[in-house]
Amino acid sequence: MHTDTIKYAIIGCGTAARFHTSAILKTQGAELVGFYDRHKEVTQAFAKEYGVPAYESLDKLLSCKNVDVVSICTPSGGRLPIALAAAQQGKHILAEKPLEVTVERAERTIAGCHRQGVILGCVFQYRFYNDVRRVKELIDAGSLGKIVLAEAQVKWYRPKAYYENSSWRGTWALDGGGVLMNQAIHTIDLMQWFVGPVRDVKSHVGTLFHSIETEDTAVAALEFEAGTVGTISASTAAYPGLRALLSVHGTKGSAILAGERLIYLSIDDPTLKPVSQFGRVDQSSSGGMDPADIADWGHVQVIGDMTEAVRKQRKPAVTGEEALKSIKLIQSIYQAAK
Ligand SMILES: NC(=O)c1ccc[n+]([C@@H]2O[C@H](COP(=O)([O-])OP(=O)(O)OC[C@H]3O[C@@H](n4cnc5c(N)ncnc54)[C@H](O)[C@@H]3O)[C@@H](O)[C@H]2O)c1
Repeated sequence: MHTDTIKYAIIGCGTAARFHTSAILKTQGAELVGFYDRHKEVTQAFAKEYGVPAYESLDKLLSCKNVDVVSICTPSGGRLPIALAAAQQGKHILAEKPLEVTVERAERTIAGCHRQGVILGCVFQYRFYNDVRRVKELIDAGSLGKIVLAEAQVKWYRPKAYYENSSWRGTWALDGGGVLMNQAIHTIDLMQWFVGPVRDVKSHVGTLFHSIETEDTAVAALEFEAGTVGTISASTAAYPGLRALLSVHGTKGSAILAGERLIYLSIDDPTLKPVSQFGRVDQSSSGGMDPADIADWGHVQVIGDMTEAVRKQRKPAVTGEEALKSIKLIQSIYQAAK
């Protein structure tokens, strides 16, 4: 068992890197030991701000004995080569979501980590929230009865500048898709975690507002293996951007999450207190309008879990295999829309 402090270096210094940085700094037993971004001035700015070393190349960072885990916060479609090189050097890997942009690339990432015997975790921070876990437990315990209907609604808004000022967002090569692969993936991950896997998919996708290669708006009708039917509606052009909603309806009860909060729960069981707080839906936060408008609490849980996984040499809460499931589902939605 690893008893020392687990040392993290961050690769790719943008929006996500800030959440990783603050989470590592808040986690007991974790230490931030460096940054690397392919733009030298960006690496140096992060290093100066947080008072930790700037690595001048990926090779130098990966060959450094002082690094146990690399947090890969680069654009989604560039993680595979970095992960393979890191695994080769025996570094454990914490990858941002999605793990990679295609099933094939994600599977190669997973295989590379298995080959080198390093731990691979992926950031799906919403799985850690108490209300989300409560819904998962209620479903698994059968408290909602047979789940007949699941609905994911991600009606978000991104201003045009969000894509125009970024060369990778909204591209197939680096974003792997549009609203489904980048934004709605958190809610889709929870939906498939609750009631997956999916047996059949029908869908329509469109690029209705933004000037991007990939979709900014999508709908899908799903049939799950357990018989549950479901829908996904998602957009980054739905002004002003509401909280993501995930509703699960069963023969004995219904639960609705707005972002990470349980806003409705009603179960045919007098011992369970119902919840009804629909007012929370209107609050435009939780990433609905601004991608940086999310709390770092989820990332703190992810770093805490990864740190313990490395120490105890156990699997993290969200393994590469778990992270693959949402990519598979989203790719099947794209396939069905063709
Ligand atoms: N979990 C979440 O809620 C969450 C939130 C935001 C972003 N993300 C994910 O994090 C990833 C990054 O998104 P972002 O919004 O931070 O992007 P960003 O554009 O703000 O930052 C990416 C950084 O990576 C750097 N970079 C690009 N290629 C590189 C390479 N090969 N080596 C080193 N550095 C490289 C860029 O220079 C840039 O500074 C995406 O996969 C995104 O889906 C997740």
